[in-house]
Amino acid sequence: MLKRGLYTEATLATVSGATGYGLIAHAAIAIERDKIVYAGPDDGLPAEWRSVPATSLDGRLVTPGLIDCHTHLIHAGSRASEFEMRLEGASYEDVARAGGGIFSTVEATNQTSDDGLLSGALKRLDRMLAEGVTTVEVKSGYGLTQEGELRLLRVARKLSEMRPVRICTTFLGAHAIPKDMDGDEYLDAVCLPALRAAAAEGLVDAVDGFCETIGFSPAQIKRVFDVASELGLPVKLHAEQLSDQGGAKLASQYGALSADHLEYVSQDGVEAMAEAGTVAVMLPGAFYFLKETKVPPIAAFRVAGVPMAVATDSNPGSAPMTSILLAMNMATTLFAMTPEEALRGVTVNAARALGQSDIGMITPGQVADLAIWDSSHPAELSYRMGDAPLYARIFGGLEC
Ligand code: NIG
Ligand code: FE
Repeated sequence: MLKRGLYTEATLATVSGATGYGLIAHAAIAIERDKIVYAGPDDGLPAEWRSVPATSLDGRLVTPGLIDCHTHLIHAGSRASEFEMRLEGASYEDVARAGGGIFSTVEATNQTSDDGLLSGALKRLDRMLAEGVTTVEVKSGYGLTQEGELRLLRVARKLSEMRPVRICTTFLGAHAIPKDMDGDEYLDAVCLPALRAAAAEGLVDAVDGFCETIGFSPAQIKRVFDVASELGLPVKLHAEQLSDQGGAKLASQYGALSADHLEYVSQDGVEAMAEAGTVAVMLPGAFYFLKETKVPPIAAFRVAGVPMAVATDSNPGSAPMTSILLAMNMATTLFAMTPEEALRGVTVNAARALGQSDIGMITPGQVADLAIWDSSHPAELSYRMGDAPLYARIFGGLEC
Protein backbone atom coordinates (compact mmCIF):
# COMPACT_ATOMS: atom_id res chain seq x y z
CA MET A 1 0.00 0.00 0.00
CA LEU A 2 1.18 3.49 -0.87
CA LYS A 3 2.16 5.37 2.29
CA ARG A 4 0.02 8.51 2.54
CA GLY A 5 -0.49 11.21 5.14
CA LEU A 6 -2.90 14.12 5.22
CA TYR A 7 -3.05 17.12 7.55
CA THR A 8 -5.84 19.70 7.33
CA GLU A 9 -6.82 22.94 9.10
CA ALA A 10 -3.15 23.97 9.22
CA THR A 11 -1.61 27.43 9.02
CA LEU A 12 1.27 26.99 6.61
CA ALA A 13 4.41 29.12 6.49
CA THR A 14 5.63 27.80 3.16
CA VAL A 15 8.54 30.30 2.79
CA SER A 16 8.29 29.51 -0.91
CA GLY A 17 8.17 33.06 -2.29
CA ALA A 18 11.11 35.42 -2.80
CA THR A 19 10.37 37.06 0.58
CA GLY A 20 8.02 36.66 3.52
CA TYR A 21 6.43 33.75 5.36
CA GLY A 22 4.28 32.54 2.48
CA LEU A 23 1.33 32.11 4.86
CA ILE A 24 -1.71 30.01 3.92
CA ALA A 25 -4.50 29.72 6.52
CA HIS A 26 -7.01 26.81 6.54
CA ALA A 27 -4.54 24.73 4.61
CA ALA A 28 -3.86 21.08 3.90
CA ILE A 29 -0.65 19.15 3.32
CA ALA A 30 -0.80 15.83 1.51
CA ILE A 31 2.21 13.51 1.76
CA GLU A 32 2.96 10.47 -0.39
CA ARG A 33 5.88 8.29 0.70
CA ASP A 34 8.41 10.91 1.89
CA LYS A 35 7.31 13.78 -0.37
CA ILE A 36 4.82 16.63 -0.19
CA VAL A 37 2.34 16.25 -3.04
CA TYR A 38 -0.10 19.03 -2.12
CA ALA A 39 0.25 22.12 0.08
CA GLY A 40 -2.48 24.72 -0.23
CA PRO A 41 -6.00 25.71 0.81
CA ASP A 42 -8.13 22.94 2.36
CA ASP A 43 -10.79 23.54 -0.25
CA GLY A 44 -8.30 23.11 -3.11
CA LEU A 45 -7.36 19.57 -2.04
CA PRO A 46 -7.33 17.28 -5.11
CA ALA A 47 -10.40 15.01 -5.37
CA GLU A 48 -8.47 11.75 -4.85
CA TRP A 49 -7.42 12.94 -1.38
CA ARG A 50 -10.91 13.76 -0.13
CA SER A 51 -11.57 10.24 1.14
CA VAL A 52 -8.15 9.86 2.81
CA PRO A 53 -8.35 10.03 6.63
CA ALA A 54 -6.99 13.41 7.74
CA THR A 55 -5.48 14.78 10.95
CA SER A 56 -6.86 18.22 11.76
CA LEU A 57 -4.23 20.59 13.14
CA ASP A 58 -6.80 23.06 14.53
CA GLY A 59 -5.05 26.08 13.01
CA ARG A 60 -1.56 25.14 14.21
CA LEU A 61 1.42 26.60 12.36
CA VAL A 62 3.39 24.27 10.10
CA THR A 63 6.87 25.28 8.95
CA PRO A 64 9.50 23.35 7.04
CA GLY A 65 11.60 21.28 9.44
CA LEU A 66 14.28 23.63 10.80
CA ILE A 67 17.81 23.41 9.40
CA ASP A 68 20.86 24.22 11.53
CA CYS A 69 23.37 24.90 8.74
CA HIS A 70 26.52 25.59 10.84
CA THR A 71 27.54 23.46 13.81
CA HIS A 72 30.66 21.96 15.37
CA LEU A 73 28.48 19.36 17.08
CA ILE A 74 31.14 16.69 17.59
CA HIS A 75 33.65 17.61 20.26
CA ALA A 76 34.64 16.81 23.82
CA GLY A 77 35.62 18.85 26.86
CA SER A 78 34.52 22.18 28.22
CA ARG A 79 35.91 25.68 27.89
CA ALA A 80 34.30 27.06 31.05
CA SER A 81 37.65 28.23 32.47
CA GLU A 82 38.39 30.06 29.21
CA PHE A 83 34.97 31.69 29.57
CA GLU A 84 36.05 32.93 33.00
CA MET A 85 39.29 34.31 31.52
CA ARG A 86 37.35 36.15 28.86
CA LEU A 87 34.96 37.59 31.44
CA GLU A 88 38.02 39.00 33.17
CA GLY A 89 39.10 40.77 30.00
CA ALA A 90 41.06 38.30 27.81
CA SER A 91 39.93 38.22 24.19
CA TYR A 92 39.12 35.12 22.10
CA GLU A 93 42.37 35.77 20.19
CA ASP A 94 44.41 36.15 23.45
CA VAL A 95 43.17 32.76 24.64
CA ALA A 96 43.91 31.14 21.27
CA ARG A 97 47.43 32.63 21.10
CA ALA A 98 48.13 31.38 24.63
CA GLY A 99 47.50 27.85 23.32
CA GLY A 100 43.93 27.50 24.60
CA GLY A 101 40.83 27.96 22.51
CA ILE A 102 40.35 25.49 19.67
CA PHE A 103 43.51 23.57 20.75
CA SER A 104 42.09 22.71 24.14
CA THR A 105 39.03 21.20 22.44
CA VAL A 106 41.30 19.34 19.98
CA GLU A 107 43.16 17.78 22.89
CA ALA A 108 39.99 16.75 24.71
CA THR A 109 38.41 15.45 21.50
CA ASN A 110 41.43 13.37 20.48
CA GLN A 111 41.49 11.79 23.95
CA THR A 112 37.84 10.71 23.70
CA SER A 113 36.72 7.39 22.16
CA ASP A 114 34.40 7.22 19.15
CA ASP A 115 31.60 6.09 21.46
CA GLY A 116 32.26 8.97 23.83
CA LEU A 117 32.13 11.48 20.97
CA LEU A 118 28.98 9.88 19.62
CA SER A 119 27.13 9.96 22.93
CA GLY A 120 28.13 13.59 23.57
CA ALA A 121 26.96 14.61 20.11
CA LEU A 122 23.70 12.67 20.46
CA LYS A 123 22.81 14.59 23.63
CA ARG A 124 23.22 17.89 21.80
CA LEU A 125 21.47 16.55 18.70
CA ASP A 126 18.45 15.43 20.74
CA ARG A 127 18.04 18.96 22.10
CA MET A 128 18.05 20.24 18.51
CA LEU A 129 15.46 17.72 17.36
CA ALA A 130 13.21 18.73 20.27
CA GLU A 131 13.06 22.19 18.66
CA GLY A 132 11.83 20.93 15.29
CA VAL A 133 15.21 20.59 13.61
CA THR A 134 15.30 17.99 10.82
CA THR A 135 18.69 18.75 9.18
CA VAL A 136 22.01 19.53 10.87
CA GLU A 137 25.32 20.42 9.31
CA VAL A 138 28.26 18.94 11.24
CA LYS A 139 31.87 20.03 10.79
CA SER A 140 35.12 18.26 11.57
CA GLY A 141 37.98 20.48 12.75
CA TYR A 142 38.78 19.27 16.26
CA GLY A 143 41.04 16.40 15.14
CA LEU A 144 43.77 18.23 13.20
CA THR A 145 45.42 14.92 12.31
CA GLN A 146 44.42 12.87 9.28
CA GLU A 147 42.86 10.09 11.35
CA GLY A 148 41.36 12.57 13.82
CA GLU A 149 39.54 14.49 11.11
CA LEU A 150 38.25 11.34 9.39
CA ARG A 151 37.05 9.97 12.71
CA LEU A 152 34.88 13.02 13.39
CA LEU A 153 33.26 12.75 9.96
CA ARG A 154 32.58 9.04 10.45
CA VAL A 155 30.92 9.82 13.79
CA ALA A 156 28.88 12.54 12.04
CA ARG A 157 27.62 10.05 9.43
CA LYS A 158 26.69 7.67 12.25
CA LEU A 159 24.36 10.26 13.80
CA SER A 160 21.90 9.91 10.93
CA GLU A 161 21.76 6.14 11.43
CA MET A 162 20.84 6.66 15.07
CA ARG A 163 18.28 9.46 14.82
CA PRO A 164 15.65 10.54 12.27
CA VAL A 165 17.66 13.49 10.94
CA ARG A 166 19.54 14.49 7.81
CA ILE A 167 23.23 15.18 8.52
CA CYS A 168 25.36 17.20 6.10
CA THR A 169 29.07 16.79 6.75
CA THR A 170 31.66 19.52 6.28
CA PHE A 171 35.42 18.97 6.26
CA LEU A 172 37.03 21.71 8.38
CA GLY A 173 40.62 20.47 8.55
CA ALA A 174 41.74 24.09 8.09
CA HIS A 175 40.38 25.15 11.50
CA ALA A 176 43.60 25.80 13.45
CA ILE A 177 47.33 25.35 12.89
CA PRO A 178 48.99 22.88 15.31
CA LYS A 179 51.68 24.57 17.40
CA ASP A 180 54.60 22.59 16.01
CA MET A 181 53.90 23.43 12.33
CA ASP A 182 53.39 26.41 10.09
CA GLY A 183 50.17 26.73 8.10
CA ASP A 184 51.53 25.51 4.77
CA GLU A 185 53.36 22.58 6.37
CA TYR A 186 50.13 21.57 8.08
CA LEU A 187 48.21 21.81 4.81
CA ASP A 188 50.81 19.66 3.00
CA ALA A 189 51.34 17.07 5.69
CA VAL A 190 47.88 16.73 7.22
CA CYS A 191 44.96 18.79 5.98
CA LEU A 192 45.05 18.24 2.22
CA PRO A 193 45.85 14.51 2.41
CA ALA A 194 43.06 14.19 5.00
CA LEU A 195 40.64 15.97 2.68
CA ARG A 196 41.48 13.64 -0.19
CA ALA A 197 41.13 10.57 2.03
CA ALA A 198 37.85 11.77 3.54
CA ALA A 199 36.42 12.54 0.10
CA ALA A 200 37.48 9.11 -1.19
CA GLU A 201 35.59 7.56 1.73
CA GLY A 202 32.45 9.55 0.87
CA LEU A 203 32.60 11.47 4.13
CA VAL A 204 32.53 15.02 2.78
CA ASP A 205 29.54 17.04 1.57
CA ALA A 206 31.33 20.41 1.68
CA VAL A 207 34.70 21.95 2.58
CA ASP A 208 35.18 24.82 5.04
CA GLY A 209 38.10 26.80 6.52
CA PHE A 210 38.82 29.43 9.16
CA CYS A 211 40.24 32.47 7.37
CA GLU A 212 41.63 34.70 10.13
CA THR A 213 44.85 36.05 11.64
CA ILE A 214 44.62 33.25 14.24
CA GLY A 215 43.58 30.74 11.53
CA PHE A 216 44.59 30.45 7.87
CA SER A 217 45.59 33.19 5.43
CA PRO A 218 43.57 33.77 2.26
CA ALA A 219 46.44 32.21 0.24
CA GLN A 220 46.27 29.08 2.42
CA ILE A 221 42.48 28.89 2.16
CA LYS A 222 42.87 29.14 -1.61
CA ARG A 223 45.01 25.99 -1.50
CA VAL A 224 42.25 24.15 0.36
CA PHE A 225 39.59 25.40 -2.05
CA ASP A 226 41.68 24.36 -5.06
CA VAL A 227 41.74 20.78 -3.81
CA ALA A 228 37.99 20.93 -3.01
CA SER A 229 37.30 22.11 -6.57
CA GLU A 230 39.47 19.36 -7.98
CA LEU A 231 37.43 16.85 -5.97
CA GLY A 232 34.16 18.42 -7.13
CA LEU A 233 33.19 19.50 -3.60
CA PRO A 234 31.41 22.77 -2.78
CA VAL A 235 33.06 25.20 -0.37
CA LYS A 236 32.04 27.53 2.47
CA LEU A 237 34.13 29.71 4.78
CA HIS A 238 34.38 31.11 8.30
CA ALA A 239 35.00 34.62 7.00
CA GLU A 240 35.45 38.05 8.56
CA GLN A 241 34.54 36.88 12.08
CA LEU A 242 37.23 38.90 13.87
CA SER A 243 38.81 41.00 11.09
CA ASP A 244 38.46 41.69 7.37
CA GLN A 245 40.68 39.23 5.50
CA GLY A 246 38.80 39.40 2.19
CA GLY A 247 37.55 35.86 2.90
CA ALA A 248 33.99 36.42 1.70
CA LYS A 249 35.24 37.66 -1.66
CA LEU A 250 37.66 34.76 -1.98
CA ALA A 251 34.92 32.25 -1.14
CA SER A 252 32.61 33.91 -3.68
CA GLN A 253 35.25 33.46 -6.37
CA TYR A 254 34.91 29.72 -5.76
CA GLY A 255 31.10 29.93 -5.98
CA ALA A 256 30.88 29.17 -2.24
CA LEU A 257 27.60 27.90 -0.83
CA SER A 258 28.03 30.24 2.11
CA ALA A 259 30.29 32.64 3.96
CA ASP A 260 29.67 32.54 7.70
CA HIS A 261 29.99 35.06 10.61
CA LEU A 262 30.80 38.17 8.47
CA GLU A 263 30.84 40.83 11.20
CA TYR A 264 33.83 42.51 9.48
CA VAL A 265 32.87 41.96 5.82
CA SER A 266 33.44 44.94 3.49
CA GLN A 267 30.97 46.27 0.91
CA ASP A 268 33.21 44.70 -1.71
CA GLY A 269 32.73 41.33 -0.04
CA VAL A 270 28.96 41.81 0.14
CA GLU A 271 28.81 42.57 -3.58
CA ALA A 272 30.98 39.58 -4.47
CA MET A 273 28.63 37.34 -2.45
CA ALA A 274 25.57 38.79 -4.19
CA GLU A 275 27.09 38.10 -7.58
CA ALA A 276 28.05 34.53 -6.72
CA GLY A 277 24.76 33.74 -4.95
CA THR A 278 26.67 32.92 -1.75
CA VAL A 279 24.49 32.75 1.38
CA ALA A 280 25.45 34.89 4.40
CA VAL A 281 25.18 32.65 7.48
CA MET A 282 24.52 34.73 10.58
CA LEU A 283 25.75 33.31 13.88
CA PRO A 284 24.39 35.65 16.56
CA GLY A 285 25.16 33.17 19.36
CA ALA A 286 28.91 33.53 18.72
CA PHE A 287 28.51 37.32 18.41
CA TYR A 288 26.77 37.39 21.78
CA PHE A 289 29.08 34.96 23.56
CA LEU A 290 32.28 36.69 22.39
CA LYS A 291 30.75 40.04 23.36
CA GLU A 292 31.34 41.29 19.81
CA THR A 293 30.05 44.79 19.15
CA LYS A 294 30.32 45.00 15.37
CA VAL A 295 27.08 43.78 13.85
CA PRO A 296 27.18 42.13 10.39
CA PRO A 297 25.87 44.47 7.65
CA ILE A 298 22.31 43.13 7.46
CA ALA A 299 21.01 46.19 5.57
CA ALA A 300 23.75 45.83 2.95
CA PHE A 301 22.91 42.12 2.48
CA ARG A 302 19.25 43.10 1.98
CA VAL A 303 20.04 45.81 -0.55
CA ALA A 304 22.45 43.58 -2.50
CA GLY A 305 20.05 40.62 -2.39
CA VAL A 306 22.37 38.28 -0.46
CA PRO A 307 20.24 35.49 1.08
CA MET A 308 20.68 35.30 4.87
CA ALA A 309 20.66 32.13 6.95
CA VAL A 310 20.80 31.77 10.75
CA ALA A 311 22.53 28.95 12.65
CA THR A 312 23.68 28.07 16.16
CA ASP A 313 27.43 27.54 15.43
CA SER A 314 27.07 25.02 18.29
CA ASN A 315 30.64 24.65 19.63
CA PRO A 316 32.36 24.77 23.02
CA GLY A 317 34.40 27.94 22.43
CA SER A 318 32.34 30.65 20.80
CA ALA A 319 28.75 29.37 20.99
CA PRO A 320 28.06 26.68 23.61
CA MET A 321 24.42 26.43 22.58
CA THR A 322 22.13 24.04 20.77
CA SER A 323 18.98 26.15 20.47
CA ILE A 324 18.14 27.21 16.92
CA LEU A 325 15.13 29.07 18.36
CA LEU A 326 17.44 31.12 20.60
CA ALA A 327 19.64 31.82 17.56
CA MET A 328 16.51 33.10 15.77
CA ASN A 329 15.63 35.27 18.74
CA MET A 330 19.17 36.68 18.83
CA ALA A 331 19.14 37.30 15.06
CA THR A 332 16.13 39.56 15.56
CA THR A 333 17.16 41.30 18.77
CA LEU A 334 20.92 41.63 18.17
CA PHE A 335 21.09 41.86 14.35
CA ALA A 336 17.70 43.51 13.65
CA MET A 337 16.66 40.78 11.27
CA THR A 338 12.89 40.45 10.99
CA PRO A 339 11.14 37.32 12.31
CA GLU A 340 10.38 36.54 8.65
CA GLU A 341 14.06 36.71 7.79
CA ALA A 342 14.92 34.58 10.82
CA LEU A 343 12.46 31.89 9.76
CA ARG A 344 13.69 31.95 6.17
CA GLY A 345 17.20 31.82 7.65
CA VAL A 346 16.59 28.44 9.29
CA THR A 347 14.60 26.98 6.40
CA VAL A 348 14.88 27.95 2.74
CA ASN A 349 18.13 29.91 3.01
CA ALA A 350 19.75 27.37 5.33
CA ALA A 351 18.98 24.65 2.77
CA ARG A 352 20.67 26.75 0.13
CA ALA A 353 23.72 27.25 2.40
CA LEU A 354 24.00 23.46 2.38
CA GLY A 355 23.37 23.06 -1.35
CA GLN A 356 20.15 21.12 -0.67
CA SER A 357 17.29 21.85 -3.04
CA ASP A 358 14.69 19.31 -1.86
CA ILE A 359 14.22 20.65 1.69
CA GLY A 360 13.51 24.02 3.31
CA MET A 361 10.11 24.91 1.82
CA ILE A 362 6.57 23.55 1.90
CA THR A 363 5.83 22.95 -1.77
CA PRO A 364 4.93 19.87 -3.82
CA GLY A 365 8.02 17.84 -4.63
CA GLN A 366 9.89 18.78 -1.44
CA VAL A 367 10.77 16.13 1.15
CA ALA A 368 8.13 16.14 3.90
CA ASP A 369 10.38 17.39 6.70
CA LEU A 370 8.05 19.55 8.77
CA ALA A 371 7.67 21.14 12.19
CA ILE A 372 4.20 21.66 13.66
CA TRP A 373 3.94 24.32 16.36
CA ASP A 374 1.52 24.92 19.21
CA SER A 375 0.79 28.39 17.90
CA SER A 376 -0.56 29.92 14.72
CA HIS A 377 1.77 32.93 14.57
CA PRO A 378 5.15 32.42 12.85
CA ALA A 379 6.81 35.25 14.84
CA GLU A 380 6.35 32.97 17.89
CA LEU A 381 9.51 31.11 16.88
CA SER A 382 11.70 34.22 17.18
CA TYR A 383 9.75 35.74 20.04
CA ARG A 384 10.28 33.01 22.61
CA MET A 385 13.81 33.03 24.04
CA GLY A 386 14.86 29.52 23.19
CA ASP A 387 11.55 28.01 24.20
CA ALA A 388 10.05 25.34 21.98
CA PRO A 389 6.31 25.33 21.43
CA LEU A 390 6.80 22.27 19.22
CA TYR A 391 3.70 20.11 18.71
CA ALA A 392 5.13 17.50 16.34
CA ARG A 393 8.09 16.88 14.09
CA ILE A 394 7.79 15.09 10.78
CA PHE A 395 10.87 13.62 9.10
CA GLY A 396 10.58 12.15 5.61
CA GLY A 397 6.80 11.98 5.99
CA LEU A 398 6.90 10.21 9.35
CA GLU A 399 5.96 11.75 12.67
CA CYS A 400 8.92 11.23 15.03
O1 NIG B 1 32.68 29.23 14.37
N1 NIG B 1 36.00 30.49 14.53
C1 NIG B 1 36.24 29.33 14.38
N2 NIG B 1 35.46 28.32 14.74
C2 NIG B 1 34.40 28.34 15.66
C3 NIG B 1 34.86 28.37 17.05
C4 NIG B 1 35.59 27.17 17.39
C5 NIG B 1 36.09 27.15 18.79
O2 NIG B 1 36.34 28.19 19.42
O3 NIG B 1 36.24 26.01 19.26
C6 NIG B 1 33.38 29.41 15.35
O4 NIG B 1 33.24 30.42 16.06
FE1 FE C 1 31.90 27.85 13.27
